[in-house]
Amino acid sequence: MKPRHLAAIVASAALVLAATTVAGALPFGGHDASPDSLRALAAKIGLRLGTAVTPFELDNAPYRQITGDQFSTVTPGNEMKWQVVEPTRGTYDWSGGDRLVTFAQQHGQLVRGHTLLWHNQLPDWLTTGVSNGTISNDELRALLHKHVTDEVTHFKGKIWQWDVANEFFTDSNPSMINPNDFWVSHLGAGVIADAFRWAHAADPHALLVYNDYNIAGEDGSNAKANAVYAWAKQTLADGVPLDCIGDQGHLDAQFGFPTQMTQDLKRFAALGLKVAITEADVRTFVDAPATQVPTDHLATFAQPYEYDQMLKACLAVSACISFTVWGFGDANSWIPGFFTGEGYADIYDVDLNPKPAYTVLQQDLTLAAHGAPSR
Ligand code: XIL
Repeated sequence: MKPRHLAAIVASAALVLAATTVAGALPFGGHDASPDSLRALAAKIGLRLGTAVTPFELDNAPYRQITGDQFSTVTPGNEMKWQVVEPTRGTYDWSGGDRLVTFAQQHGQLVRGHTLLWHNQLPDWLTTGVSNGTISNDELRALLHKHVTDEVTHFKGKIWQWDVANEFFTDSNPSMINPNDFWVSHLGAGVIADAFRWAHAADPHALLVYNDYNIAGEDGSNAKANAVYAWAKQTLADGVPLDCIGDQGHLDAQFGFPTQMTQDLKRFAALGLKVAITEADVRTFVDAPATQVPTDHLATFAQPYEYDQMLKACLAVSACISFTVWGFGDANSWIPGFFTGEGYADIYDVDLNPKPAYTVLQQDLTLAAHGAPSR
């Protein structure tokens, strides 16, 4: 064996050992989490149960407690987005992301990095420079390369999954890579694959994810799932380091549940990819943002049902490695601010009491972990 290969094997064995040691010290199911917590139940079948966290919310003691007790992976809601990490050109602010990484390490959790390449939440200096012509396309490409490299390098070894590219496909039928997307219109569609290559070069051990919404049949036509599937297949054939497809899972109880979800996740898995539900929530119309009582009583049944079906779709596919909710408390949800009149999207209510959606996830995970009692 060539020494180079031997060195690589020794290095990767050391890494596995390090990972095992960390996992051994702080078990996957949580060092002090109760055996019927979501994370402990999911750990029995090797699934990570996650939540988005905005690190300042960790100052709230009950919120902090639930974050540590119930979840085995965390995603920063905003703190790794370009707008937040480089508010002024050339000056990085990693404080929010670092805080969450530290919390995760203290609680035996893995971190999903979110997100490196997206048209939203870009710094003003970047979008202004592009629109007034002071940043050319060549410079834009160089800035993006540096952004991906610097951010992945900063968090190297601390990120389990990176959402490398986010929301590139149109909601039309047929769906396609959006030619009007900020990045695609300036740098061409090939920039998506480049971002994966740059991220892989900076941290070869992170799982690299393409993340989008409505890519498991939620659009009714399955058009978007088909387009992402075709792209993923070609991207793998091109040798791009794509590891996983993330279906965000932002559902609305007024629409039917996507019956295609299990099949679509299986189809991605059949390409050799991992899959994940990355941002699950189920919104509905409510009385007011402060109280978030559904205006239609039937929505209180539809809401947990859709969570149940999403989790079951993930449970049915062994390549589904994590199920993450986009925040767990209705008071902290992004929904009331983005969808007028809607809310009640999370698994805990505005006072951080578990809702029927929490119970349903817990029941599904209990069955997955232990099966039904024999009789
Ligand atoms: C949302 C955050 O939760 C909000 O706080 C922020 O104001 C806007 O972005 N899809 C994504 C997430 O990939 O990054 C978005 O997060 C929700 C939709």
